[in-house]
Amino acid sequence: MLSEPSRNWTLDELLSGAGWDDQVHVAGSGMALSELGLVTINEEIEAFVSLGEEGVNAHREGLLEFRIWNCLSSLPESERTMDRLFEEGFERHEAGPGIGLLKSLGLSIDSGRLVAEDETSISKQISVRSEFISSLSEGPVSKLKLDDEMVSHFLGRKGLILINEETSRSWSLTDAGSSIEPSELEHVEMIGEVTPELLQSENWRGAKFKPFDVNSPAPIPMGGRPHPMQALIERIRQVFLEMGFSEIEGDFVQSAGWNMDALYIPQSHPARTMQDTFYLSEPSQIDVDEHYLDLWSKVHEHGHDTGSKGWGGSFDKDESRKSLLRTHTTVNTVRHIAENPDEPSRVFGIGRVFRQETIDRTHLPEFHQIEGIIHEEEASLPMLITTLKTFYSKMGYPDVRVRPAYFPYTEPSVEVDILWRGQWLELGGAGIFRPEVTEPLGSEWPVCAWGMGLERLAMIILDLDDIRQLYQPDLERLSRMPIL
Ligand code: PHE
Repeated sequence: MLSEPSRNWTLDELLSGAGWDDQVHVAGSGMALSELGLVTINEEIEAFVSLGEEGVNAHREGLLEFRIWNCLSSLPESERTMDRLFEEGFERHEAGPGIGLLKSLGLSIDSGRLVAEDETSISKQISVRSEFISSLSEGPVSKLKLDDEMVSHFLGRKGLILINEETSRSWSLTDAGSSIEPSELEHVEMIGEVTPELLQSENWRGAKFKPFDVNSPAPIPMGGRPHPMQALIERIRQVFLEMGFSEIEGDFVQSAGWNMDALYIPQSHPARTMQDTFYLSEPSQIDVDEHYLDLWSKVHEHGHDTGSKGWGGSFDKDESRKSLLRTHTTVNTVRHIAENPDEPSRVFGIGRVFRQETIDRTHLPEFHQIEGIIHEEEASLPMLITTLKTFYSKMGYPDVRVRPAYFPYTEPSVEVDILWRGQWLELGGAGIFRPEVTEPLGSEWPVCAWGMGLERLAMIILDLDDIRQLYQPDLERLSRMPIL
């Protein structure tokens, strides 16, 4: 730069002048020299306009107003109606806005017919717009070279054009910089990267190291990563494994007997109806061991020998055989107890469950639950609460509280909340399985049980306000979600 002290240098000039091939060197040395007060960095921001997704379509197929206008012009005046446009293949979502656009160009509606006073003027305005769109079809164009009115018109329409700002830099010497004598300059080799080779050699002794600049702009690398939901499941799995639990699994398709009757959910319970549960027609029935059907009938009707009075009424075994998509993962844990009634166990399961929910910001018909039990002689409520507290602390939420709640299958029952940004959020249910549940399964011990929805937890951890964001295939958004 000292060869022409008053010049403003562009990137290319500096690259070729210094014999470099990577702009990082120019940016880095420019920054360092500017910090020393020797160089000024001049930044110029220029806006470039390019076609958006809709713009590319419009270039290929013609702007909406162009296509509609073309169609109208080809029809005899008496047939220029909205209905006729539908017949010609325009969809409602096109014809409506298209006519709107044409109205602002001079088209009007007269008792159902679309009429234009000055057809030439409409055609002309449309061709100006079409030309504007074509002028962008070869790539971005500087906004300065474009008609402002057209730019602001198309910015008001969705997806047609995009504006990108590009910063171009140039470098010039400051007074202090230009008054430096070339002979005062000293060439110092600085080490930018510490490599094993460097460490093995002696060259690092006495060498100068380039300081890191953590503020310098750098591209964010985009690579593959697990889906955030999968990453969360993996983290929860690790926490439970660390706490000494083993993992169990189960099928999505279950009988109502195992999903509900085993859990002492009365056959008349509203959650069992078609509005809440997905019953299957194929298969419509699933075999359930007669041994359990007998025991559940007795327990539901009069309590059998559990000490309970039961729900009364008469138990319908066919109701138990109905097949459904499991509505909670609690079905996995009760089946585990039935298969291992005399073996103490601490198990958890993570899986999908299905409920007939209307999709909204916080509900999906298909979501995940995490479920667990401690089945052993000394199991107790304090043990359950401590376990949940330990789990949530390990997940990063040390403030946990429980409140009394009700589930047909636990007594006592609690609702588990965690403190998040000063607010208590309800995350799941827990309790000790009632004897009406455990006795038919052949167990003599109390069972600590809990279950919670995973998407709720994911929304908190990922800071989402809409549960659907987790499952939309929006790679851009997914890639920006925090790594768990
Ligand atoms: N099954 C309950 C639910 O779906 C949660 C729960 C599991 C409650 C175990 C108590 C014991 O919300």
